[in-house]
Amino acid sequence: MEEELQSLRAEAEAALAAVSGPADLEAFRVEYLGRKGRFSGLMRLLGQASTEERPRLGKLANEVKAVVEGLFNARKEELEGALPAASPVGDLTLPGRRRPAGGIHPVTQVMDEVCAIFVGLGFAVAEGPDVETDFYNFEALNIPPHHPARAMHDTFYVDEGRLLRTHTSPMQIRAMEQASPPLRMIAPGKVYRCDSDITHTPMFHQVEGFMVDRKVSFADLKGVLSVFITRMFDAQTPIRFRPSFFPFTEPSAEVDIGCVICGGKGCRVCKQTGWLEILGAGMIDPAVFAKVGYDAEQYSGFAFGLGIERIAMLRYGIGDIRLFYENDLRFLAQF
Ligand code: PHE
Repeated sequence: MEEELQSLRAEAEAALAAVSGPADLEAFRVEYLGRKGRFSGLMRLLGQASTEERPRLGKLANEVKAVVEGLFNARKEELEGALPAASPVGDLTLPGRRRPAGGIHPVTQVMDEVCAIFVGLGFAVAEGPDVETDFYNFEALNIPPHHPARAMHDTFYVDEGRLLRTHTSPMQIRAMEQASPPLRMIAPGKVYRCDSDITHTPMFHQVEGFMVDRKVSFADLKGVLSVFITRMFDAQTPIRFRPSFFPFTEPSAEVDIGCVICGGKGCRVCKQTGWLEILGAGMIDPAVFAKVGYDAEQYSGFAFGLGIERIAMLRYGIGDIRLFYENDLRFLAQF
């Protein structure tokens, strides 16, 4: 038994030296140190030794085993340490790390869709500054200082005379100043109001649209907006023009669609009315034409402004506008 232990040790040493990789090493472990391995085999023979011999042999066997295990662990460390040296870029057998695919934000998607519909109807696209002057945001739109309509706008002021635009309507003025009729334009962009709850965020998106030419009528406005709603929602969506007031349009209207949540029966979202307001519109007020030097006797025009988040919420049945701006990937990944 003593001899066998010594030769097992010598064989194990030679075998370990020949080990060249993790698979070899594991095979060695099973053959020598495993439960059914050669070492366990020898230990079982210990039972046959005489009572006097047994303690000495047992001690020797344990010593040999400890030596072989020590050699095994040293070789293991050697091999593990050698891996990175062999492959300076790391373990090439590891599966690659996937980059999660990005996506287009739902607000951007709806914005793109809205713009595409109007571009299809022949409208040009213009963009303007988020920081506006009081003149473009209010004054030129027939909202003089102290006009009660200013109270509705919850304006963020930058300094005396400058503010974050509260709507995209200032682009009507900028566009009309730079070109003469005929004009058919949309102006998409961010707008700002000091307001925050489940249907309002301090920043949101609007698309302004306007058309100016000889003999543009309210019928043209209705036609263009009806086509838009049909394409954005579907051909069966009921549409309603409801009289309203804006300082820069006369007459003015707000446009409602049949509630997409309850189908018009009345629910929490439509406040039991069966209708949802989706945009403001009207015929451009002659006072606005006067500000940009257009002759209101020759030209007429319509304008409308719609909120993108509002349309996105109706489109996807989203109850809280703030979800759009929390950047929770579990929400965003659904679009
Ligand atoms: N600017 C208005 C708003 O933000 C919407 C509007 C635009 C109304 C154009 C009429 C004409 O509420």
